[in-house]
Amino acid sequence: MISWRKHYKRGLIAIGLLLSTSASIYAQGDAKNGEKLFKANCTACHALDKQVVGPALGGVVDRLKKEQNLDTDWLHKWIKDNKAFRASGDKYANEVFEKFNKTEMLQFPNLTDQDINDILEYTTNPPAPEPAAADATATGTDANSIAAIEAAKKDSVNSKIILISLLAIGGLLLWMLFKLRQLVKLQQSDELTGLNSSRAYSFADLYRKYSYIGKGILGLLAIFAAYGIWNWMMWIGVYKGYKPEQPIYFSHKIHAGENKIDCQLCHSSAKYGKVSEIPSMNVCMNCHRMISEYKGKYIEPGKDRDFYTGEIQKIYAATGWDPAKQQYTGKTQPVEWTRIHNMPDFVYFNHSQHVVAGEQAIITSFNKKNPESKIDVVCKACHGKIDTMNVVQMANDFTMGWCIECHRTTEVDMTNGYNKEYFKNLHDKLKKQYGSGTKVTVAAIGGLECGKCHY
Ligand code: HEC
Ligand code: HEC
Ligand code: HEC
Ligand code: HEC
Ligand code: HEC
Ligand code: HEC
Repeated sequence: MISWRKHYKRGLIAIGLLLSTSASIYAQGDAKNGEKLFKANCTACHALDKQVVGPALGGVVDRLKKEQNLDTDWLHKWIKDNKAFRASGDKYANEVFEKFNKTEMLQFPNLTDQDINDILEYTTNPPAPEPAAADATATGTDANSIAAIEAAKKDSVNSKIILISLLAIGGLLLWMLFKLRQLVKLQQSDELTGLNSSRAYSFADLYRKYSYIGKGILGLLAIFAAYGIWNWMMWIGVYKGYKPEQPIYFSHKIHAGENKIDCQLCHSSAKYGKVSEIPSMNVCMNCHRMISEYKGKYIEPGKDRDFYTGEIQKIYAATGWDPAKQQYTGKTQPVEWTRIHNMPDFVYFNHSQHVVAGEQAIITSFNKKNPESKIDVVCKACHGKIDTMNVVQMANDFTMGWCIECHRTTEVDMTNGYNKEYFKNLHDKLKKQYGSGTKVTVAAIGGLECGKCHY
């Protein structure tokens, strides 16, 4: 009875909590949408409570009203296209640009007036931070490391299965050899002591008689060798999990995760070229000329803010920037990042082929295969959830088998401009041959041809 009562009370509390949170969600409808838009578009450069690249935006509507006597109309114009607005000669627009050392803010012509109102509502009345969120991220990382351990376990189980089957095949071969020898011995003793000793012993006869065993052994050996070579080609160079120490402790979790900085802001060449380079120190300085100390909320266990601030100072040492005098001294020290992903020279891998032409196909297929951990950014299909990693590590095998597995199973996006033109004939032909529901995988457009990936 007592325990029933306890449950009953808990139930009431839970229902109460549910009601109160849903009520608050309802009341802050606009701010919620504003928060989403703010996080997607603005957090690379702005926070509510502190200056990042641009000024703190918490209460910006009231502040500009009080200090500059500007209304939300000004804010709409500024946010939509600050460049044009400055060019129009607006006084404060030019002042604030000068004040921030002429750092360019992006333009947002795609945001509607309603969107901007939602964002401003969010900066005025941000929903209270939910303490549960912090816990969720903590367990999130735990879940990640558990997943990594599980994956490692699975890998070792897989290799155990391979080992056992190899042993079994080896055992079978030995047994057959033994049997053959026995048969030969039997035959010899029969023939030498037997009645037909007049007939010369002929190995050719023997072979003819027992040739199926010999052929069987040769066949098995061939399968065995082919299997070995295939495995060697598919699995050579597995570096999954490789994460070397870097000269600056650069955290993707802090940049891409906490501060939502877009991958391509730093790895801009992924879109256009074969390689997706590590950003140069000048890219870091775009932001770190302003951000010289770490004031973020997130701190990795075992680290502290002083540690992060010390790492930021290394950027200044590398570029020869004197933050006190705000000028370059001319003394630079190159930073040598250790390459983590590195295909052998005989492999041709092109980022833009995957990041531009293949983007939608890869995201759709990944999300279909992993409904419980969907991705929004194409990079994550191959590199894993980089925005949760403090230290980058290889998230996949990056072997030939891995490339081919995806090419076999990923349907090409025939609607994007590039493929529509390029594969029109092929697509029409396939449709005629197999009907209009035909799936066209990367394999079907030649993604398994040796020459596509090998020079
Ligand atoms: C690439 C960095 C960057 C992004 C992204 C960015 N801003 Fe800015 N923002 C700045 C900088 C820098 C300034 C300071 C003025 C200047 O240098 O142009 C600024 C100034 C502002 C100001 C004027 C604030 C004041 O106190 O005078 C507002 C308002 C603003 N941004 C809103 C936004 C909103 C809303 C978004 C997202 C939709 C956004 N910004 C995205 C860099 C950025
Ligand atoms: C603020 C700049 C910045 C942003 C944003 C950023 N990166 Fe990086 N990235 C770096 C730097 C610096 C390195 C080299 C140091 C390291 O390995 O951590 C790097 C390394 C990498 C590597 C390993 C490269 C190698 O050596 O093989 C991958 C993969 C990568 N980033 C992917 C991403 C993805 C995916 C995102 C978006 C989720 C992203 N990065 C966002 C700066 C950035
Ligand atoms: C788009 C802006 C931006 C760029 C570009 C950028 N950072 Fe940062 N960086 C930040 C922000 C924001 C923080 C967190 C500051 C805070 O919360 O107080 C940060 C923090 C850091 C920290 C301390 C936390 C950590 O990751 O260890 C280091 C070190 C750092 N950045 C290095 C770099 C390097 C190296 C580059 C160039 C490869 C770079 N950053 C490029 C915005 C940027
Ligand atoms: C189809 C899988 C795939 C996708 C999608 C992908 N990458 Fe890569 N990435 C690779 C492979 C494979 C390499 C190794 C390339 C090499 O060594 O030549 C690599 C290497 C890198 C490197 C190291 C430098 C280099 O080019 O070798 C960086 C940085 C990187 N990727 C960032 C990104 C970013 C950012 C995105 C999203 C815009 C992205 N990647 C999307 C597979 C992918
Ligand atoms: C996550 C899935 C995925 C992985 C992993 C992947 N690819 Fe691809 N790849 C694609 C898709 C999708 C396309 C088709 C892009 C398009 O629409 O043209 C493609 C196209 C290609 C093409 C052009 C094929 C053609 O016929 O035009 C080459 C070459 C290629 N990939 C090489 C590689 C190599 C090398 C690797 C491994 C290092 C790799 N890919 C890993 C998805 C993947
Ligand atoms: C989708 C891309 C792709 C296709 C198609 C492909 N390969 Fe590969 N191949 C790779 C990659 C990537 C590696 C390097 C793997 C590594 O270093 O871990 C590789 C490695 C190899 C290796 C060397 C193993 C070693 O020692 O590193 C051989 C041999 C090879 N491939 C042969 C072939 C043959 C033969 C074909 C055609 C039947 C073929 N490949 C088709 C991507 C591909």
